[in-house]
Amino acid sequence: MAFCEYQPGLEGVPVAQSSISFVDGKNGILEYRGINIEELAQKSTFIETAYLLIWGKLPTKEELLIFQEEINNHRRIKYHIRDMMKCFPESGHPMDALQTSAAALGLFYSRRALAKDEYIRDAVVRLLAKIPTMVAAFAQMRNGNDPVKPNDNLNYSANFLYMLTEKEPEPLEARIFDVCLMLHAEHTMNASTFSAMVTASTLTDPYAVVASAVGTLAGPLHGGANEEVLSMLEEIGTIENVRPYIEKCIENKQKIMGFGHRVYKVKDPRAKILQQLAERLFELTGHDDYYDIALEVEKVVAEKLGTKGIYANVDFYSGLVYRKLGIKTDLFTPMFAISRVAGWLAHWKEQLAVNRIFRPTQVYIGEHNQPYIPMEERF
Ligand code: SDX
Repeated sequence: MAFCEYQPGLEGVPVAQSSISFVDGKNGILEYRGINIEELAQKSTFIETAYLLIWGKLPTKEELLIFQEEINNHRRIKYHIRDMMKCFPESGHPMDALQTSAAALGLFYSRRALAKDEYIRDAVVRLLAKIPTMVAAFAQMRNGNDPVKPNDNLNYSANFLYMLTEKEPEPLEARIFDVCLMLHAEHTMNASTFSAMVTASTLTDPYAVVASAVGTLAGPLHGGANEEVLSMLEEIGTIENVRPYIEKCIENKQKIMGFGHRVYKVKDPRAKILQQLAERLFELTGHDDYYDIALEVEKVVAEKLGTKGIYANVDFYSGLVYRKLGIKTDLFTPMFAISRVAGWLAHWKEQLAVNRIFRPTQVYIGEHNQPYIPMEERF
Protein backbone atom coordinates (compact mmCIF):
# COMPACT_ATOMS: atom_id res chain seq x y z
CA MET A 1 0.00 0.00 0.00
CA ALA A 2 1.36 3.44 -0.95
CA PHE A 3 1.32 5.95 1.91
CA CYS A 4 0.80 9.56 1.05
CA GLU A 5 1.50 12.64 3.06
CA TYR A 6 -0.96 14.23 5.41
CA GLN A 7 -3.31 16.52 3.44
CA PRO A 8 -5.12 19.13 5.56
CA GLY A 9 -8.84 18.94 4.74
CA LEU A 10 -8.10 15.75 2.73
CA GLU A 11 -7.60 18.01 -0.29
CA GLY A 12 -7.26 15.90 -3.44
CA VAL A 13 -7.49 12.59 -1.51
CA PRO A 14 -10.05 10.22 -3.08
CA VAL A 15 -12.19 8.55 -0.41
CA ALA A 16 -14.57 6.67 -2.69
CA GLN A 17 -15.33 5.61 -6.23
CA SER A 18 -18.65 7.04 -7.29
CA SER A 19 -20.83 7.31 -10.37
CA ILE A 20 -23.36 9.72 -8.85
CA SER A 21 -22.06 13.15 -9.82
CA PHE A 22 -19.09 14.88 -11.47
CA VAL A 23 -17.59 18.34 -11.10
CA ASP A 24 -15.15 19.99 -13.51
CA GLY A 25 -13.92 22.83 -11.35
CA LYS A 26 -11.85 24.55 -14.05
CA ASN A 27 -14.68 24.79 -16.53
CA GLY A 28 -17.57 25.13 -14.09
CA ILE A 29 -19.39 21.95 -15.08
CA LEU A 30 -21.61 19.84 -12.84
CA GLU A 31 -23.30 16.60 -13.92
CA TYR A 32 -25.67 14.26 -12.09
CA ARG A 33 -25.29 10.71 -13.44
CA GLY A 34 -23.67 12.25 -16.54
CA ILE A 35 -26.46 14.76 -17.23
CA ASN A 36 -25.55 18.44 -17.14
CA ILE A 37 -27.14 20.34 -14.27
CA GLU A 38 -28.30 23.10 -16.64
CA GLU A 39 -30.32 20.61 -18.66
CA LEU A 40 -31.82 19.06 -15.52
CA ALA A 41 -32.70 22.53 -14.20
CA GLN A 42 -34.61 23.24 -17.41
CA LYS A 43 -36.32 19.90 -17.96
CA SER A 44 -36.52 17.83 -14.78
CA THR A 45 -38.15 18.05 -11.36
CA PHE A 46 -36.63 17.53 -7.92
CA ILE A 47 -38.35 14.19 -7.39
CA GLU A 48 -37.27 12.90 -10.81
CA THR A 49 -33.73 14.13 -10.09
CA ALA A 50 -33.74 12.42 -6.68
CA TYR A 51 -34.78 9.16 -8.39
CA LEU A 52 -31.99 9.63 -10.95
CA LEU A 53 -29.38 10.21 -8.25
CA ILE A 54 -30.47 7.35 -6.01
CA TRP A 55 -31.33 4.68 -8.59
CA GLY A 56 -28.86 5.74 -11.25
CA LYS A 57 -31.29 6.21 -14.15
CA LEU A 58 -34.16 8.46 -15.16
CA PRO A 59 -37.45 6.84 -14.15
CA THR A 60 -40.06 5.76 -16.67
CA LYS A 61 -43.38 7.61 -16.46
CA GLU A 62 -44.85 4.79 -14.38
CA GLU A 63 -41.83 4.51 -12.05
CA LEU A 64 -41.98 8.23 -11.43
CA LEU A 65 -45.71 8.18 -10.69
CA ILE A 66 -45.29 5.34 -8.20
CA PHE A 67 -42.34 7.08 -6.53
CA GLN A 68 -44.25 10.36 -6.24
CA GLU A 69 -47.27 8.59 -4.82
CA GLU A 70 -45.17 6.72 -2.25
CA ILE A 71 -43.63 10.02 -1.14
CA ASN A 72 -47.03 11.72 -0.95
CA ASN A 73 -48.30 8.87 1.21
CA HIS A 74 -45.49 9.32 3.72
CA ARG A 75 -45.47 13.10 4.11
CA ARG A 76 -47.21 13.10 7.49
CA ILE A 77 -45.17 12.79 10.68
CA LYS A 78 -46.14 10.85 13.78
CA TYR A 79 -47.79 12.65 16.68
CA HIS A 80 -44.89 11.58 18.91
CA ILE A 81 -42.45 13.45 16.68
CA ARG A 82 -44.72 16.47 16.52
CA ASP A 83 -45.08 16.46 20.30
CA MET A 84 -41.34 16.10 20.73
CA MET A 85 -40.77 19.06 18.39
CA LYS A 86 -43.26 21.15 20.37
CA CYS A 87 -40.85 20.90 23.31
CA PHE A 88 -37.96 22.36 21.31
CA PRO A 89 -37.05 25.92 22.34
CA GLU A 90 -38.55 28.32 19.81
CA SER A 91 -35.27 30.23 19.77
CA GLY A 92 -33.40 27.08 18.69
CA HIS A 93 -31.89 27.01 15.22
CA PRO A 94 -34.02 25.10 12.66
CA MET A 95 -30.98 23.04 11.62
CA ASP A 96 -30.62 21.78 15.20
CA ALA A 97 -34.35 21.02 15.25
CA LEU A 98 -34.00 19.14 11.95
CA GLN A 99 -30.98 17.15 13.08
CA THR A 100 -32.79 16.05 16.23
CA SER A 101 -36.02 15.21 14.37
CA ALA A 102 -34.19 13.28 11.63
CA ALA A 103 -32.42 11.19 14.29
CA ALA A 104 -35.76 10.65 16.05
CA LEU A 105 -37.18 8.94 12.93
CA GLY A 106 -34.80 6.08 13.76
CA LEU A 107 -36.80 5.44 16.94
CA PHE A 108 -39.89 4.56 14.92
CA TYR A 109 -38.82 2.66 11.84
CA SER A 110 -37.28 -0.79 11.88
CA ARG A 111 -33.55 -0.66 11.95
CA ARG A 112 -30.73 -1.89 9.83
CA ALA A 113 -32.29 -4.35 7.41
CA LEU A 114 -29.65 -2.97 5.09
CA ALA A 115 -29.45 -6.01 2.82
CA LYS A 116 -33.12 -5.69 1.82
CA ASP A 117 -34.07 -3.56 -1.16
CA GLU A 118 -37.50 -2.84 0.37
CA TYR A 119 -35.88 -1.43 3.52
CA ILE A 120 -33.67 0.87 1.45
CA ARG A 121 -36.60 2.05 -0.67
CA ASP A 122 -38.74 2.59 2.43
CA ALA A 123 -36.01 4.68 4.12
CA VAL A 124 -35.47 6.75 0.96
CA VAL A 125 -39.19 7.45 0.65
CA ARG A 126 -39.66 8.26 4.34
CA LEU A 127 -36.69 10.63 4.49
CA LEU A 128 -37.55 12.48 1.27
CA ALA A 129 -41.18 12.72 2.38
CA LYS A 130 -40.76 13.67 6.04
CA ILE A 131 -37.78 16.03 6.12
CA PRO A 132 -39.74 18.91 4.48
CA THR A 133 -42.71 18.27 6.78
CA MET A 134 -40.45 18.43 9.84
CA VAL A 135 -38.79 21.67 8.67
CA ALA A 136 -42.18 23.30 8.04
CA ALA A 137 -43.63 21.97 11.31
CA PHE A 138 -40.84 23.50 13.40
CA ALA A 139 -41.17 26.80 11.50
CA GLN A 140 -44.89 26.88 12.37
CA MET A 141 -44.65 25.63 15.95
CA ARG A 142 -41.93 28.05 17.01
CA ASN A 143 -44.45 30.80 16.19
CA GLY A 144 -47.09 29.14 18.34
CA ASN A 145 -49.03 27.70 15.36
CA ASP A 146 -50.10 24.15 14.69
CA PRO A 147 -48.20 22.48 11.85
CA VAL A 148 -49.95 22.76 8.48
CA LYS A 149 -51.02 19.34 7.15
CA PRO A 150 -49.60 18.29 3.76
CA ASN A 151 -51.94 19.13 0.86
CA ASP A 152 -52.51 16.09 -1.34
CA ASN A 153 -53.31 18.25 -4.37
CA LEU A 154 -49.90 19.89 -4.42
CA ASN A 155 -46.61 18.57 -5.74
CA TYR A 156 -43.51 18.21 -3.57
CA SER A 157 -42.23 21.78 -3.79
CA ALA A 158 -45.59 23.54 -3.84
CA ASN A 159 -46.69 21.50 -0.85
CA PHE A 160 -43.58 22.42 1.12
CA LEU A 161 -44.10 26.15 0.49
CA TYR A 162 -47.76 25.69 1.43
CA MET A 163 -46.87 23.96 4.74
CA LEU A 164 -44.38 26.73 5.46
CA THR A 165 -46.55 29.74 4.63
CA GLU A 166 -50.11 28.33 4.74
CA LYS A 167 -50.59 29.84 1.30
CA GLU A 168 -50.56 28.04 -2.04
CA PRO A 169 -47.60 29.40 -4.03
CA GLU A 170 -47.87 30.74 -7.57
CA PRO A 171 -46.89 28.01 -10.08
CA LEU A 172 -43.74 29.96 -11.03
CA GLU A 173 -42.72 30.29 -7.36
CA ALA A 174 -43.15 26.54 -6.84
CA ARG A 175 -41.20 25.79 -10.02
CA ILE A 176 -38.36 28.10 -9.00
CA PHE A 177 -38.18 26.46 -5.58
CA ASP A 178 -38.16 23.04 -7.24
CA VAL A 179 -35.21 24.10 -9.41
CA CYS A 180 -33.39 25.29 -6.25
CA LEU A 181 -33.88 21.81 -4.79
CA MET A 182 -32.46 20.22 -7.95
CA LEU A 183 -29.41 22.49 -7.87
CA HIS A 184 -28.57 21.63 -4.25
CA ALA A 185 -29.34 17.91 -4.45
CA GLU A 186 -25.82 16.52 -4.89
CA HIS A 187 -22.23 17.67 -5.14
CA THR A 188 -19.64 14.86 -5.11
CA MET A 189 -17.55 14.44 -1.95
CA ASN A 190 -18.50 17.54 0.05
CA ALA A 191 -18.22 17.65 3.86
CA SER A 192 -21.79 16.58 4.71
CA THR A 193 -21.75 13.75 2.18
CA PHE A 194 -18.45 12.50 3.56
CA SER A 195 -19.95 12.70 7.03
CA ALA A 196 -22.93 10.66 5.82
CA MET A 197 -20.64 8.08 4.27
CA VAL A 198 -18.47 7.68 7.37
CA THR A 199 -21.62 7.13 9.43
CA ALA A 200 -23.08 4.81 6.78
CA SER A 201 -19.89 2.73 6.72
CA THR A 202 -20.56 1.54 10.30
CA LEU A 203 -23.82 0.00 9.00
CA THR A 204 -25.95 2.10 11.31
CA ASP A 205 -29.47 3.11 10.27
CA PRO A 206 -30.16 5.69 7.52
CA TYR A 207 -31.77 8.13 9.96
CA ALA A 208 -28.47 8.36 11.87
CA VAL A 209 -26.69 8.79 8.51
CA VAL A 210 -28.90 11.75 7.58
CA ALA A 211 -28.79 13.24 11.09
CA SER A 212 -24.99 13.29 11.04
CA ALA A 213 -25.00 14.89 7.58
CA VAL A 214 -27.48 17.58 8.67
CA GLY A 215 -25.17 18.49 11.56
CA THR A 216 -22.24 18.81 9.18
CA LEU A 217 -24.16 20.84 6.61
CA ALA A 218 -25.13 23.40 9.26
CA GLY A 219 -21.65 24.92 9.61
CA PRO A 220 -20.93 28.35 8.08
CA LEU A 221 -18.12 27.00 5.90
CA HIS A 222 -20.62 24.62 4.23
CA GLY A 223 -24.41 24.93 3.88
CA GLY A 224 -24.69 27.51 6.65
CA ALA A 225 -23.00 30.05 4.39
CA ASN A 226 -26.30 30.93 2.64
CA GLU A 227 -27.64 32.39 5.89
CA GLU A 228 -24.39 34.26 6.50
CA VAL A 229 -24.54 35.81 3.01
CA LEU A 230 -27.84 37.51 3.79
CA SER A 231 -26.48 38.79 7.12
CA MET A 232 -23.47 40.15 5.23
CA LEU A 233 -25.63 41.94 2.63
CA GLU A 234 -27.72 43.44 5.46
CA GLU A 235 -24.59 44.56 7.28
CA ILE A 236 -23.18 46.18 4.13
CA GLY A 237 -26.50 47.99 3.65
CA THR A 238 -25.62 50.20 0.64
CA ILE A 239 -23.73 49.86 -2.64
CA GLU A 240 -21.20 52.51 -1.52
CA ASN A 241 -20.27 50.39 1.51
CA VAL A 242 -19.41 47.33 -0.56
CA ARG A 243 -15.83 48.17 -1.54
CA PRO A 244 -14.63 49.26 1.93
CA TYR A 245 -16.39 46.24 3.51
CA ILE A 246 -14.72 43.74 1.16
CA GLU A 247 -11.33 45.46 1.46
CA LYS A 248 -11.57 45.28 5.25
CA CYS A 249 -12.49 41.55 5.12
CA ILE A 250 -9.47 40.86 2.92
CA GLU A 251 -7.18 42.94 5.13
CA ASN A 252 -8.40 41.07 8.24
CA LYS A 253 -8.13 37.70 6.46
CA GLN A 254 -11.84 37.21 7.01
CA LYS A 255 -13.69 34.86 4.65
CA ILE A 256 -16.32 36.45 2.41
CA MET A 257 -19.40 34.28 2.69
CA GLY A 258 -20.76 32.72 -0.49
CA PHE A 259 -17.36 32.87 -2.20
CA GLY A 260 -14.62 30.34 -2.82
CA HIS A 261 -14.77 26.61 -3.29
CA ARG A 262 -12.40 23.70 -2.87
CA VAL A 263 -13.11 22.47 -6.41
CA TYR A 264 -14.46 25.37 -8.48
CA LYS A 265 -11.93 27.95 -9.56
CA VAL A 266 -14.54 29.76 -11.67
CA LYS A 267 -18.08 30.86 -10.83
CA ASP A 268 -20.12 27.90 -9.58
CA PRO A 269 -22.56 26.85 -12.36
CA ARG A 270 -25.30 26.60 -9.72
CA ALA A 271 -24.71 30.24 -8.72
CA LYS A 272 -25.26 31.26 -12.35
CA ILE A 273 -28.61 29.45 -12.49
CA LEU A 274 -29.66 30.76 -9.06
CA GLN A 275 -28.87 34.30 -10.18
CA GLN A 276 -31.15 33.83 -13.21
CA LEU A 277 -33.88 32.43 -10.94
CA ALA A 278 -33.57 35.46 -8.64
CA GLU A 279 -33.99 37.75 -11.65
CA ARG A 280 -37.10 35.84 -12.80
CA LEU A 281 -38.59 36.19 -9.33
CA PHE A 282 -37.90 39.91 -9.27
CA GLU A 283 -39.89 40.24 -12.51
CA LEU A 284 -42.80 38.52 -10.79
CA THR A 285 -42.69 40.05 -7.32
CA GLY A 286 -40.62 43.23 -7.59
CA HIS A 287 -36.98 44.18 -7.32
CA ASP A 288 -34.86 43.52 -4.22
CA ASP A 289 -32.28 46.20 -3.36
CA TYR A 290 -30.06 43.56 -1.81
CA TYR A 291 -29.57 42.17 -5.31
CA ASP A 292 -27.80 45.39 -6.36
CA ILE A 293 -25.55 45.09 -3.33
CA ALA A 294 -24.90 41.42 -4.18
CA LEU A 295 -23.92 42.32 -7.76
CA GLU A 296 -21.46 44.90 -6.48
CA VAL A 297 -20.02 42.40 -3.95
CA GLU A 298 -19.51 39.91 -6.76
CA LYS A 299 -17.78 42.56 -8.90
CA VAL A 300 -15.42 43.71 -6.15
CA VAL A 301 -14.57 40.16 -5.01
CA ALA A 302 -13.81 39.15 -8.63
CA GLU A 303 -11.53 42.17 -8.95
CA LYS A 304 -9.70 41.52 -5.66
CA LEU A 305 -9.69 37.71 -5.42
CA GLY A 306 -10.43 36.46 -8.94
CA THR A 307 -6.75 35.74 -9.57
CA LYS A 308 -6.90 33.26 -6.64
CA GLY A 309 -9.88 31.52 -8.27
CA ILE A 310 -12.35 32.83 -5.71
CA TYR A 311 -15.80 33.37 -7.22
CA ALA A 312 -19.43 33.10 -6.13
CA ASN A 313 -20.49 29.63 -4.99
CA VAL A 314 -23.93 28.00 -4.68
CA ASP A 315 -24.65 29.78 -1.40
CA PHE A 316 -24.26 33.32 -2.73
CA TYR A 317 -27.54 33.81 -4.63
CA SER A 318 -29.74 31.12 -3.05
CA GLY A 319 -30.66 33.34 -0.09
CA LEU A 320 -31.95 36.10 -2.37
CA VAL A 321 -34.25 33.59 -4.06
CA TYR A 322 -35.50 32.16 -0.75
CA ARG A 323 -36.03 35.64 0.66
CA LYS A 324 -38.26 36.52 -2.30
CA LEU A 325 -40.21 33.31 -1.71
CA GLY A 326 -40.96 34.56 1.81
CA ILE A 327 -38.60 32.16 3.57
CA LYS A 328 -36.95 33.37 6.78
CA THR A 329 -33.16 33.63 6.83
CA ASP A 330 -32.57 30.93 9.45
CA LEU A 331 -34.51 28.48 7.23
CA PHE A 332 -32.15 28.87 4.27
CA THR A 333 -29.83 26.05 5.38
CA PRO A 334 -32.75 23.67 6.06
CA MET A 335 -33.77 24.32 2.41
CA PHE A 336 -30.34 23.02 1.43
CA ALA A 337 -30.87 19.96 3.67
CA ILE A 338 -34.30 19.15 2.19
CA SER A 339 -32.60 18.94 -1.16
CA ARG A 340 -29.25 17.36 -0.24
CA VAL A 341 -30.95 14.44 1.46
CA ALA A 342 -31.28 13.03 -2.09
CA GLY A 343 -27.50 13.13 -2.57
CA TRP A 344 -26.79 11.73 0.91
CA LEU A 345 -29.14 8.82 0.27
CA ALA A 346 -27.58 8.14 -3.14
CA HIS A 347 -24.14 7.93 -1.52
CA TRP A 348 -25.53 5.82 1.35
CA LYS A 349 -26.91 3.31 -1.15
CA GLU A 350 -23.70 3.32 -3.21
CA GLN A 351 -21.59 2.89 -0.05
CA LEU A 352 -23.63 -0.09 1.18
CA ALA A 353 -22.98 -1.97 -2.05
CA VAL A 354 -19.19 -1.91 -1.53
CA ASN A 355 -18.95 -1.16 2.15
CA ARG A 356 -15.79 -1.16 4.18
CA ILE A 357 -15.74 0.82 7.43
CA PHE A 358 -13.89 4.15 7.17
CA ARG A 359 -10.90 3.95 9.40
CA PRO A 360 -8.13 6.25 8.15
CA THR A 361 -4.94 6.90 9.99
CA GLN A 362 -3.28 9.92 11.55
CA VAL A 363 0.20 11.34 11.89
CA TYR A 364 0.93 11.30 15.63
CA ILE A 365 2.84 14.42 16.66
CA GLY A 366 2.59 14.03 20.45
CA GLU A 367 5.08 12.81 23.05
CA HIS A 368 5.97 9.28 24.23
CA ASN A 369 7.02 7.79 27.56
CA GLN A 370 5.81 10.68 29.69
CA PRO A 371 5.72 10.23 33.50
CA TYR A 372 2.43 10.50 35.43
CA ILE A 373 2.84 13.67 37.60
CA PRO A 374 1.14 13.54 41.01
CA MET A 375 -1.49 16.28 41.52
CA GLU A 376 0.49 18.17 44.17
CA GLU A 377 3.46 18.51 41.82
CA ARG A 378 1.46 19.96 38.90
CA PHE A 379 1.35 23.67 38.13
C1 SDX B 1 -20.69 24.65 0.01
O1 SDX B 1 -17.60 20.97 -1.13
C2 SDX B 1 -18.72 21.25 -1.71
O2 SDX B 1 -19.01 20.82 -2.77
C3 SDX B 1 -19.61 22.19 -0.91
C4 SDX B 1 -20.87 22.74 -1.62
C5 SDX B 1 -21.87 21.61 -1.86
O3 SDX B 1 -22.71 21.74 -2.75
O4 SDX B 1 -21.88 20.64 -1.08
O5 SDX B 1 -20.55 23.34 -2.84
C6 SDX B 1 -21.62 23.72 -0.71
O6 SDX B 1 -20.29 24.31 1.10
C7 SDX B 1 -20.27 25.96 -0.63
C8 SDX B 1 -19.26 26.74 0.18
C9 SDX B 1 -19.95 27.63 1.21
N1 SDX B 1 -18.98 28.29 2.09
C10 SDX B 1 -18.69 29.59 2.02
O7 SDX B 1 -19.17 30.32 1.16
C11 SDX B 1 -17.77 30.09 3.10
C12 SDX B 1 -16.69 30.96 2.52
N2 SDX B 1 -15.80 30.13 1.71
C13 SDX B 1 -14.67 29.58 2.27
O8 SDX B 1 -14.45 29.54 3.64
C14 SDX B 1 -13.86 28.58 1.45
O9 SDX B 1 -13.72 29.08 0.17
C15 SDX B 1 -14.38 27.14 1.41
C16 SDX B 1 -14.67 26.59 2.81
C17 SDX B 1 -15.65 27.04 0.58
C18 SDX B 1 -13.28 26.26 0.76
O10 SDX B 1 -12.20 26.16 1.64
P1 SDX B 1 -10.77 25.61 1.23
O11 SDX B 1 -10.79 24.86 -0.02
O12 SDX B 1 -10.21 24.92 2.44
O13 SDX B 1 -9.94 26.93 0.94
P2 SDX B 1 -9.11 27.78 1.99
O14 SDX B 1 -10.01 28.21 3.10
O15 SDX B 1 -7.90 26.99 2.39
O16 SDX B 1 -8.72 29.02 1.15
C19 SDX B 1 -7.67 29.00 0.16
C20 SDX B 1 -7.25 30.41 -0.09
C21 SDX B 1 -6.88 31.15 1.20
O17 SDX B 1 -5.96 32.18 0.84
P3 SDX B 1 -4.38 31.99 1.11
O18 SDX B 1 -4.21 31.72 2.59
O19 SDX B 1 -3.97 30.78 0.28
O20 SDX B 1 -3.76 33.26 0.64
O21 SDX B 1 -8.34 31.18 -0.62
C22 SDX B 1 -8.74 32.21 0.30
C23 SDX B 1 -8.16 31.78 1.65
O22 SDX B 1 -7.98 32.86 2.51
N3 SDX B 1 -10.22 32.17 0.37
C24 SDX B 1 -10.99 33.21 0.63
C25 SDX B 1 -12.31 32.73 0.58
N4 SDX B 1 -12.28 31.43 0.29
C26 SDX B 1 -11.02 31.09 0.16
N5 SDX B 1 -10.72 34.48 0.92
C27 SDX B 1 -11.77 35.30 1.16
N6 SDX B 1 -13.07 34.91 1.13
C28 SDX B 1 -13.35 33.64 0.82
N7 SDX B 1 -14.62 33.22 0.80
